[in-house]
Amino acid sequence: MNELRPRELKMTVLATPDMVNFSGNIHGGSVLKLLDQVAYSCAAQYSKEYCVTLAVERVVFRGPIHVGELVSFLALVNYVGRTSMEIGIKVIAQAPREDSVRHVVSCFFTMVAVDENRRPTQIEPFTPSTPEERRRWQAAEGRRQKTGKRND
Ligand SMILES: CC(C)(COP(=O)(O)OP(=O)(O)OC[C@H]1O[C@@H](n2cnc3c(N)ncnc32)[C@H](O)[C@@H]1OP(=O)(O)O)[C@@H](O)C(=O)NCCC(=O)NCCS
Repeated sequence: MNELRPRELKMTVLATPDMVNFSGNIHGGSVLKLLDQVAYSCAAQYSKEYCVTLAVERVVFRGPIHVGELVSFLALVNYVGRTSMEIGIKVIAQAPREDSVRHVVSCFFTMVAVDENRRPTQIEPFTPSTPEERRRWQAAEGRRQKTGKRND
């Protein structure tokens, strides 16, 4: 991992009563807002540029999040293009007195680095080297191709 351009980011928040929906669990919209902030932070941390959200894909709410749980957002830059990045985010929830964590959300964000005129700007390339990095890169390329975008 390049320490000057970290590709990983972790944010943990407490699920609080102001985030609940009618059923008493955490509202999906509250989670989406946090996901967008985490995706932005991860993209800006890697690119060292201001970034905008281009697309959000495959947001899967796998289970409820309860008030009082610690909710951790684990973000990783999976793919780096000329100006865009794919950020994968896995969200896990844990009740303070329990050892086990639950995987509650997964999703992929496409973020684009922009200049002062909000035009896409070139970012530092990344070459996947480990099998895990290559697997994530290829999966991101597959998702990109489905949107009709060419991979460089
Ligand atoms: C993001 C934005 C700057 C891109 O502008 P653009 O003129 O489409 O730019 P480009 O065609 O040069 O594409 C920029 C990058 O996005 C990628 N891209 C464009 N459309 C894409 C799509 N549908 N899926 C995946 N990637 C896409 C391009 O491949 C390119 O990446 P690369 O340089 O790594 O290859 C522009 O669309 C924008 O400002 N959107 C609004 C962003 C915003 O306000 N977000 C907040 C929403 S609430």
